[in-house]
Amino acid sequence: MRTPLSQGADTRRWTRFLAIALLHAILLGASALPSAAQEIGDLAGGRRLAETWCSTCHMVVPTPRLGTSNGAPTFSAIARMKSTTPLALRAFLQTPHSRMPDLHLTRDEVDDLTTYILSLRQK
Ligand code: HEC
Repeated sequence: MRTPLSQGADTRRWTRFLAIALLHAILLGASALPSAAQEIGDLAGGRRLAETWCSTCHMVVPTPRLGTSNGAPTFSAIARMKSTTPLALRAFLQTPHSRMPDLHLTRDEVDDLTTYILSLRQK
């Protein structure tokens, strides 16, 4: 049987627990934020961008094919090339190319696209 007194103590202990839990949530949340922002590229975002901006020329979905009749390699083929590294992709996407339109991609878009293209490597 609980006395009103011990109930009061329980409530205080509970409140303390909640306060500490909340503090941890805030601290963890704060420390998780910058690391989430540093994460390189968002896969789903990259795929969306690819479908919107690149699929007119490239096959952007996973495919065993290497290219299309317009001379643009498929993204799967690009992903499979040894020369395709995150750095090389970023450099390529941040500089204008003669046979590709200058798409004026932001850094984030370049990162997302790089992440998406490299994800096709296993497929
Ligand atoms: C108007 C057509 C067109 C569009 C749109 C286009 N590309 Fe290309 N892309 C090409 C062609 C053509 C090549 C082959 C270039 C060459 O060999 O000179 C190419 C090559 C590339 C390569 C280089 C592969 C290698 O050889 O290293 C990458 C990476 C690439 N494109 C990514 C993209 C991405 C990402 C987008 C969308 C943001 C995009 N392209 C949009 C036509 C296009």
